[in-house]
Amino acid sequence: MRGEFSSAMTEQPYKTLEWMGDCLSGHLRLLDQTVLPLEVVFLDCQDVKSVWDAIKRLSVRGAPAIGVSAAYGVIVGLQSSADVQRPQFNEKLTVVTDYLATSRPTAVNLFWALDRMKAFANQHPDLTSRELLQQLLEEAQRIDREDQQMCLAIGQNGAALLPDECSVLTHCNAGGLATAGDGTALSVFFAANRQGKNLHVYADETRPLLQGARLTSWELQQRDIPVTVICDSVAGWAMKQGRIQAIVTGADRIAGNGDAANKIGTYSVAQLAKVHNIPFYVAAPSSTFDLSLASGDDIPIEERSRDEIAHGFGQQTVPDGVDVFNPAFDVTPSELITAIITERGVIQEINTSSIADHLQTAAT
Ligand code: MRU
Repeated sequence: MRGEFSSAMTEQPYKTLEWMGDCLSGHLRLLDQTVLPLEVVFLDCQDVKSVWDAIKRLSVRGAPAIGVSAAYGVIVGLQSSADVQRPQFNEKLTVVTDYLATSRPTAVNLFWALDRMKAFANQHPDLTSRELLQQLLEEAQRIDREDQQMCLAIGQNGAALLPDECSVLTHCNAGGLATAGDGTALSVFFAANRQGKNLHVYADETRPLLQGARLTSWELQQRDIPVTVICDSVAGWAMKQGRIQAIVTGADRIAGNGDAANKIGTYSVAQLAKVHNIPFYVAAPSSTFDLSLASGDDIPIEERSRDEIAHGFGQQTVPDGVDVFNPAFDVTPSELITAIITERGVIQEINTSSIADHLQTAAT
């Protein structure tokens, strides 16, 4: 299914992900991010393999969006089991969640959402399989709606940190395309813009898959926020020239001490920010924290295929036989992070106890 491009607007023009229909025969509709910004194409995922494939090849990407999609993936994976006995249904649930968990390793939101679906099933042993399937769909829809609310709150909480007039830098895409709502880092920009702040965004192109050039610039353009795309290697020079007053990125997993995994290149940006005395903010919902990990050293880092670098976008750029190292994420140590913005507020002094305390507080 294809959509039409539209002119500037204040809301995201297309849904990144959407459940269509009922629990027994419905499906997950995804905006295929691999073909943006040139085409708007929707993928209808009718079975769990198509959800797994979509996550793996980055048709849907960004930590929160992966989590919400996986929750809906559980539903399509269980539809054929609606009439089996509960023990078999429970076994199938384990098979489906274990399978979805193998799609990508770094974003903890994936495992968080799958755990939440499993926990919901365990808390309702008396339901029939059919009743549980219906209620699991409602749980997935709650995860979806909560993510939208978290995005809005992150935006509000983060916008207060930005000056009335500023140029900001972001890396990768932490926008509406990466969540079920308005995004995390980009939600901060959208909220600042709504508050009348005069914002200009520099978007790192984000090698090798160009989430910044293809997706962030597209989203900002759609929402009428001035944006300039730069090669990743320009970021330091732009900082040196005084073009950037703040940096806001998303995160895929934040360890208990505040070390934050995000798209490869984020660590370099954070180091450059430190050298140039520019605040470096991480915006993420509480579902991105992994308190089971004491530090970022234990965050699993996805390595992706050689082809993404050697044959990016259909063009060979590396000689045959030459080795490529393609980690998809890096970890920024908490010392380099000025503050972490969540839906609950802002963590200014980042350490294990301030993070634990923050995650106990109610959302703002
Ligand atoms: O490989 P991707 O495109 O899924 O990487 C996404 C990012 O690194 C985002 O910055 C992160 O998931 C935060 S999204 C709100």
